[in-house]
Amino acid sequence: MSLASNIGSATISGKTWLVTGAARGLGLCLVRHLSAQGARVLALSRAPGLVMPGVTHIPYDQADETSINAAAQAVSGQIDYVIHNAAIRGDTGGLATLTASDLAAVIRINVAGPLLLTRALIPHLSPGATLAFISSRAGSFTEGRDSDGDYAYCLSKAALNRAVAKLADDLPFRVLALHPGWLRTEMGGDQAPEDPDDAAARILSLLAGPKGPVSGSFADSHGKLIQP
Ligand SMILES: NC(=O)c1ccc[n+]([C@@H]2O[C@H](COP(=O)([O-])OP(=O)(O)OC[C@H]3O[C@@H](n4cnc5c(N)ncnc54)[C@H](OP(=O)(O)O)[C@@H]3O)[C@@H](O)[C@H]2O)c1
Repeated sequence: MSLASNIGSATISGKTWLVTGAARGLGLCLVRHLSAQGARVLALSRAPGLVMPGVTHIPYDQADETSINAAAQAVSGQIDYVIHNAAIRGDTGGLATLTASDLAAVIRINVAGPLLLTRALIPHLSPGATLAFISSRAGSFTEGRDSDGDYAYCLSKAALNRAVAKLADDLPFRVLALHPGWLRTEMGGDQAPEDPDDAAARILSLLAGPKGPVSGSFADSHGKLIQP
């Protein structure tokens, strides 16, 4: 937690944060930082996460609309920050192995799930709440062009970025898409250059700090804007 002391604890402590995909990877790092900073955390995941001060686990399967609505119904009190973090990769074999079912499964989890959860959470959001969608540079038309053969994942993050802009137009909340960096998690792999714990601290600083990106924008974890 090297950057934890740099997070504006005054804006984290006492606030309610909801994090999806909270039992491992970047999501778990976010929850650890938030708990250490005195936040109230609603940790949504399929598997129960670690028991930590201020953290309440809510069962959540982002592929299942019934589970999404049940998770929202389990929320008590108002939420100040939502971090839509849970996502999956798809088939990585490029056009040669692309299937409609894999594409649909990835879109369902990475795009439909966060949108449906957002809708279900609206009655629980405090005025001025922030909705952060963990996206990826892979979803950028201009900055995400590389040899990755995972069509489904790229397309899902491009759609998520567009959904963020749409939600920013439609809802009275701050809505952001954030690229966390290439992280050493199960998704990012061992060769990834960045520590997810550091990325989590930067993301929380960005969200809780006074100068975060404007609603509807797509930025990296340092707050630098990314071309959609
Ligand atoms: N790692 C990177 O280099 C990188 C780069 C760019 C963007 N990102 C984005 O950063 C976010 C976090 O990625 P990560 O690296 O922490 O990935 P990860 O280690 O693979 O973890 C993925 C998380 O998503 C959850 N999840 C997957 N399917 C779910 C479902 N159906 N219902 C509920 N939860 C589900 C997993 O929960 P379970 O434990 O239940 O499977 C897990 O908590 C993702 O949005 C990812 O796209 C990551």
